[in-house]
Amino acid sequence: MNILVGVTGCIAAYKACELIRSFQKAGCDVSVVMTQAATRFVGVETFRALTQGQAKVSLFDDADPIPHISLAEQADAMVIAPCTADVCAKVACGIADDLLTSTVLACTCPLFIAPAMNVHMYENAATQANLEVLRSRGVHVIAPDAGYLACGEVGAGKLPAPERISRAVLACLDGRSEASEQALAGKRILVTSGPTVEPIDDVRFISNRSSGKMGAAIAAAALDAGASVTVVSGPVSIAYDARAEVVSVQTAREMRDAACTAFSNADIAICVAAVADYRPERAHAGKLKKGADDDALSCIRMVPNPDILSELGHAKRPDQMVVGFAAEAGEAEAHAREKLARKGADLIVANDVSAQDVFGSDEDEVSFVSEHAITRLARMPKPEVARALIALIAKG
Ligand code: CTP
Repeated sequence: MNILVGVTGCIAAYKACELIRSFQKAGCDVSVVMTQAATRFVGVETFRALTQGQAKVSLFDDADPIPHISLAEQADAMVIAPCTADVCAKVACGIADDLLTSTVLACTCPLFIAPAMNVHMYENAATQANLEVLRSRGVHVIAPDAGYLACGEVGAGKLPAPERISRAVLACLDGRSEASEQALAGKRILVTSGPTVEPIDDVRFISNRSSGKMGAAIAAAALDAGASVTVVSGPVSIAYDARAEVVSVQTAREMRDAACTAFSNADIAICVAAVADYRPERAHAGKLKKGADDDALSCIRMVPNPDILSELGHAKRPDQMVVGFAAEAGEAEAHAREKLARKGADLIVANDVSAQDVFGSDEDEVSFVSEHAITRLARMPKPEVARALIALIAKG
C-alpha cells in the first residue's frame, strides 16, 4: 500500500517523521509532499532520507514534468499531517497553487486530514466551516487532541500521536482494518442490539426505532478481528453473523438480565441497543378493548426501565471495557461527554440524528468520544464505522 504523506508549515511537522516510520512499520510504502512553509520546520532531506528519496516540494524543480499527477496516481491514500488552517482552507476551496494542493486535487484515493494549529484558529468559524465542507465531501478529518499547545495556550489543536494517526488511517482503508489482523483474538465481546419492545397488552407495545444494522456490523467486525461475540438483541428483521451467539429478548429487563449474564464472562460490552427508557407500568393480559378499556388505553402510566449501559459501566471490573452509543438531536459530542461520565463508559460513539437519516440507513456519521480525545469520522457505510470502532477498541 502506498501512502502519500502531506506535510505543511506547522511546528508539529517534525511528528510527520514518526508518522512515516509508523506507516513503514505497518508495511506501507511512503512518499512525501511538502509545502514550502513545511521546509522551514523540517528539511526535505530528512524526509528524503526516511523515504529513499520519495519527498518532493516543488511543481517545477523536478525531473518529472507533472509530479502532482504521478504522486496522485501512485497513492492508495493521502494523509496531510499536520495540516495548517491555511491548507485546510485551500483544500476546501480547491486551490491548487503548489505541489501539495495540486496533488490533493488530482488524487482520487481516500484523503485524510489531521488539522494542527492554535486553539483559536482551530475553533474559528472559518476553519470549522472548511472542515465541515471537507467532511461533507468524504474527507476523513482526524480531530486534533486537546492539550498544551506550542503557542502556550491550552485547548484543541494538538496533532495526535503519529501512531494513532496511522492506526486510524489504516483502520479506515478498505481491507486494511485492524479487524482483519485478528486484533481481538481471544477476547469475548457482548453487543446489545436492536430495539426493546415493552408490552401494553398482548398485541400492543411501545418501542424505539432501530434496525439492528449497526449492532450486526459491529458483531461482524469483532468476529473478523478474532473475538467471540454474544449479541443480545431485541426483535429485528436482519440476520446476525452466523458465527455470533444470539440471545433474543423482547423487553429492556430481559435484555438487562441477558446482558449482565454475558458480561460477567466478557472483556468488552458494546451497547448499541435502542432500549426503551420507560415501559408501561402494567402489561395487560389479552387485548384491551376500545370502549370497555378506554381508561387503560388513553392513559398509560410509564415507569423507568433499567439503563443497561449504565449498569454495566458502573459494575465493570478494571480489566473490562464498556462502550456506548449516543444518538442525539444536536450537540452530540457535548451530550456524549456527559453520558461518558454519567454511565461509567470508556467510550461513546456519538451521532447527530437531527442532521441525517440514521434509522435503517446503511451509512452513519459518528464521533468517537473518550475522556481525552474525540475522533470524528466522515459519513461512511456502517460496516466501515464498525471496523473503525473495533480498531479503536483493540488499541485498549
Ligand atoms: N442505553 C441502555 N439502556 C437504556 C437506555 C440506553 O443500555 N435504558 C444505552 C444505549 O444502548 C446507548 C446509550 O445507552 O449505548 C445511550 O442511550 P441514549 O438513549 O442516547 O441515552 P439516554 O440514557 O436514554 O439519555 P437521553 O435520553 O437523556 O439522551
